[in-house]
Amino acid sequence: FDDRKNSYGPNIEIESEWGPFKAKIDTFMGQDTQWRAYPLVGGEKVLTGDTHTITSPYNINETAGQIDWANAETVTRAIDLAEAAFPDWSQRPAIERTACLDRMADLMEENYPELMALCHREAGKTIQDSIDEVREAVDFCRYYAQQVRSNFDAPVTYQDFLGQEQTVQRQGRGVFACISPWNFPLAIFMGQVSAALAVGNTVVAKPAEQTSLIAVRAIELLLEAGVPGDVIHLLPGDGATVGAPLTSDKRIAGLAFTGSTGTAQLINRTLSNRGVAPVPVIAETGGQNAMIIDSTSLPEQVVRDGVRSAFASAGQRCSALRVMFVQADIADRVIPMIKGAMKEQSVGLPYLHSTDVGPVIDKKAQAMLLEHIERMKQEGSLIAQTDLPEWADKGTFVAPSAFEISSIDLLTDEKFGPILHVVRYKAKDLDKIIDTINHSGFGLTMGVHSRNETTCARIASRARVGNLYINRDQVGAVVGVQPFGGQGLSGTGPKAGGPHYLHRFAIEKAL
Ligand code: NAD
Ligand code: ALA
Repeated sequence: FDDRKNSYGPNIEIESEWGPFKAKIDTFMGQDTQWRAYPLVGGEKVLTGDTHTITSPYNINETAGQIDWANAETVTRAIDLAEAAFPDWSQRPAIERTACLDRMADLMEENYPELMALCHREAGKTIQDSIDEVREAVDFCRYYAQQVRSNFDAPVTYQDFLGQEQTVQRQGRGVFACISPWNFPLAIFMGQVSAALAVGNTVVAKPAEQTSLIAVRAIELLLEAGVPGDVIHLLPGDGATVGAPLTSDKRIAGLAFTGSTGTAQLINRTLSNRGVAPVPVIAETGGQNAMIIDSTSLPEQVVRDGVRSAFASAGQRCSALRVMFVQADIADRVIPMIKGAMKEQSVGLPYLHSTDVGPVIDKKAQAMLLEHIERMKQEGSLIAQTDLPEWADKGTFVAPSAFEISSIDLLTDEKFGPILHVVRYKAKDLDKIIDTINHSGFGLTMGVHSRNETTCARIASRARVGNLYINRDQVGAVVGVQPFGGQGLSGTGPKAGGPHYLHRFAIEKAL
């Protein structure tokens, strides 16, 4: 995976590069630019008449676009077409299928400004998050295309001591359902879809209802890139209208899901109630992510990495830091520094360079987070809250907040937003702390800050997490570099952006 030449996007530090680029983004930022989107089935727009308005999280009176949701009839038609297209698509040479993904990566780069504008307007993503979003989608397409070509497509031959040979071939499973969340509306959406297509499956994709405009735009580009219209279908809508009929259909041969743990459990039941053969489910779900900081760590680095891990993307990353465990010996030094750093953050309009933290996705998320903040004010003690701008009530903003609490046990579920909890621990209790983190049942990311190699190794071997980061932040896994995914309540694996991901999308035949 070495073709990363353009995937870093514009360099916002170089004015001669960023200025003209920003001007192109701004052509999509005015109220008069609105996207109109529909389900795409068999390569055609489907006008269902069930039209929904998508507003911008930073100004809920501003419309980003309108979208028709699919319905049960559209779901059935998409699966009919995807099933009929499977034999041809799965038998095409991998070089042909993956050429479409390489072309898709190029098209996303060509359309970077529009895709970034959609990230701002529909998802409230900041400039850096929007650049990263498009870059990750590009990386997924190129990485999976290259994985199929170099490691996956060629049959592997095994020989026994008498010389008898067996050849193992891999091929697609059939119609794959891909269901994605709003917090990575392009990257995770395209990651799932590109993996399923690369291996030879046909795909019915359901994006999150909050962020379907960018998904429709992506599928338009994928069709332009050469994926046939009967191979990929897009069904916007919510869980009840589209997700439930999709996952109830007996013909679904596999599911890639990213979202909350509760939804994954519900979908798992729906799939198993179909009364057909069990199918592979790749579920990437929530976290209760901790960072452990011991007295040998460097406080400035801890604060930089901790604040970024907790508040970047308004805390709306599954990888985000929720609970920072600080060894008691240095807590009185680190906690005031966290407070200082939080006062320096700027909450604001996501498309401005000066903004560190944008809005949360919608009113429902905002209400849940504000309720949790009120609860923490009673059960913990407030360390700091970043100021909100005066006009913040135009959008769904939540002030980044940090609380000192007595135990992680106060947190029973994931609070998906900019709220950090800090717990002091005594050095002698380190193993106990790791056990309480494990006891939460989640196992996604963990950060460690320590200059003691034995401590790092001890935490690494005891912690049940998918991604452990030492002396750095714990968000922003890079495709092909940090394969990403958790264990326990955080997901089934295999890890996205890693060398084993594609195997779950395929069957193996030994001949
Ligand atoms: P969600 O579970 O509410 O929704 C995810 C998707 O499932 C959406 O498309 C939704 O419409 C769909 N859905 C809901 N009910 C359904 C049903 N009954 N049948 C089929 N589909 C249904 O999650 P969200 O709020 O969109 O995303 C945030 C969550 O995603 C957080 O918990 C976060 O931790 C998690 N996440 C995990 C990862 C990871 O890699 N582990 C990455 C990003 C987000
Ligand atoms: N893969 C994303 C991250 O690492 C969720 O932050």
